Amino acid sequence: MDHRATTNALRPQGVTRQPEVTHQEAASPRPSREVADPVLRLDDVAVSYGGLTAIQGVNLEVPRHEITALIGPSGCGKSTLLRSMNRMNDLIAGAKVTGRLRYNGEDVYASDVDPVEVRRRIGMVFQKPNPFPKSIYDNVAFGPKLSGVNRGLDDIVERSLVRAALWDEVKGKLKQSGLTLSGGQQQRLCIARALAVDPQVILMDEPCSALDPVATMAIEDLMADMRQDLSIVVVTHNMQQAARVSQRTAFFTVNVDEATGHRTGELVEYDRTATIFTKASDSRTEGYITGRFG
Ligand SMILES: Nc1ncnc2c1ncn2[C@@H]1O[C@H](COP(=O)(O)OP(=O)(O)O)[C@@H](O)[C@H]1O
Ligand SMILES: [Mg+2]
Repeated sequence: MDHRATTNALRPQGVTRQPEVTHQEAASPRPSREVADPVLRLDDVAVSYGGLTAIQGVNLEVPRHEITALIGPSGCGKSTLLRSMNRMNDLIAGAKVTGRLRYNGEDVYASDVDPVEVRRRIGMVFQKPNPFPKSIYDNVAFGPKLSGVNRGLDDIVERSLVRAALWDEVKGKLKQSGLTLSGGQQQRLCIARALAVDPQVILMDEPCSALDPVATMAIEDLMADMRQDLSIVVVTHNMQQAARVSQRTAFFTVNVDEATGHRTGELVEYDRTATIFTKASDSRTEGYITGRFG
């Protein structure tokens, strides 16, 4: 039975495909299988740049209405993996994604799936706040306009800014440039811009690393609110942040080939955040979390 909401499907209504069940799936139970009906599911995902593998062998299921944190040392492929989840790597010359990546059961990389639609359903927020050099209003209205929405824009803008906990601070100056806001406000504007097209997932790549502690707390509170409506995958180098905001944590490491010096990322362990932080199964996870190496 197909219980997916049509509004969250990647193909036009009426075009349906039976999810294929491969032999490999049936044969390889994993601990992460405990996630029933994940919004995103990665099977043996690898990403390479110019033929060199940056990260490989990733099996991961992202639960709905939870915050999943990706942690690990610099260069282990967290940003690379995050970008694979909404086909952002398509925009990088030489980047190649293999394996299976599914959103609501649909193959994100199927030939008839529109990457623009993928990025609408699975939005992204970057490390450095990057509002467009446009008004606050136009920043938020940008996505809906692009997808052909012309009516009710005022409501969409207001609702998105309310959801991003920014409305009260900007409601009197919507025509002002987004670039005049503080860093923390700019980041919430970028979140409002992502929310305006009503995504089901938001990917966040170190969203607080350019912000002061007060602005960081505002974003963390906002993330906790947002998960009522959607699912979040967040890359963070801040262990305390992962512990504070996430329900699940994936720890990655980077392996160095002694002959070539090439570094390849690998998922070490994925579990409930409390488990990762208090009784990790892999000594590498514990070592990283307690600061012994990484
Ligand atoms: N656009 C790119 N072109 C080529 N190599 C890249 C690109 N982006 C990242 N890489 C390489 O992929 C590996 C993982 O990088 P990245 O995903 O940025 O790691 P992290 O976010 O965990 O620090 C690194 O070796 C990096 O040099
Ligand atoms: Mg990164």
